[in-house]
Amino acid sequence: MFDESETVGREYLWMLARRGMGLQLFHQDNDAFYDLVRLRKRAAEFVAGSSLICRAKSGDREAAVALKTSFWPFVQEFELAIDQQPLPREPLARKFGDAAMRRVFVGMARAMREMKSEEGSHAAHWRKDAECLGISFFADDRIPAVQELIDRAYTRDISLFFSMLAGTEFIAEELSRFLVDSQDFTGLFSRKRWMWGEIHLAPHDDGRSHLEIDLDLARAYGSEDASRIEADVVSAMALFRKAADEIADAALLSA
Ligand SMILES: [Fe+2]
Repeated sequence: MFDESETVGREYLWMLARRGMGLQLFHQDNDAFYDLVRLRKRAAEFVAGSSLICRAKSGDREAAVALKTSFWPFVQEFELAIDQQPLPREPLARKFGDAAMRRVFVGMARAMREMKSEEGSHAAHWRKDAECLGISFFADDRIPAVQELIDRAYTRDISLFFSMLAGTEFIAEELSRFLVDSQDFTGLFSRKRWMWGEIHLAPHDDGRSHLEIDLDLARAYGSEDASRIEADVVSAMALFRKAADEIADAALLSA
């Protein structure tokens, strides 16, 4: 039977989602559920403890080039991995009930499509910044831990996938915070700016951040035990650090 009120409701949700406003999450208490301060602090520690990133910050061109080229395979694959992740409805319907699942899922599915295209534009910024650093060619070889990051982005464990995305967001934001104000670093680029970093620090004034969506879905598809999801997020962040250390070793930059 045609139910007009449901149709109107659905169109209204689409309209809100189109504007990036009013996106509903599965949980309203993620800020209390997760220890976000601890997670962000761990990300900042992973970044600041990396010799590669510290050398880049102090204006070491070789380190900056190694950072931009060696992480490129992951930056490039990240958007594709988001695109290829199926989001099954059944586990969500089982957990939240059919009505609640439908109410939230439409907006979430759209938010994921937007996330994919935004990450595509972030990858384009990464590439353009690299050009401004004098890099004209990205080799296809992959450092082992960078390949591990890529493999984890393609996991079919959906909670682990969103934990990986959340860890990536934390690292991207803290890496940006660490480097974007360093004139020794930005001075290496022809336009004296590192746009990828600036973009990751821009406030989300048009709706939910990628991080909020990632953490909500990691929980929706996963455990109600925050420590288990947080362990996955920290392990993803640790993998970025391992990759940075391997890149430093490969470039003979280690102290
Ligand atoms: Fe990004």
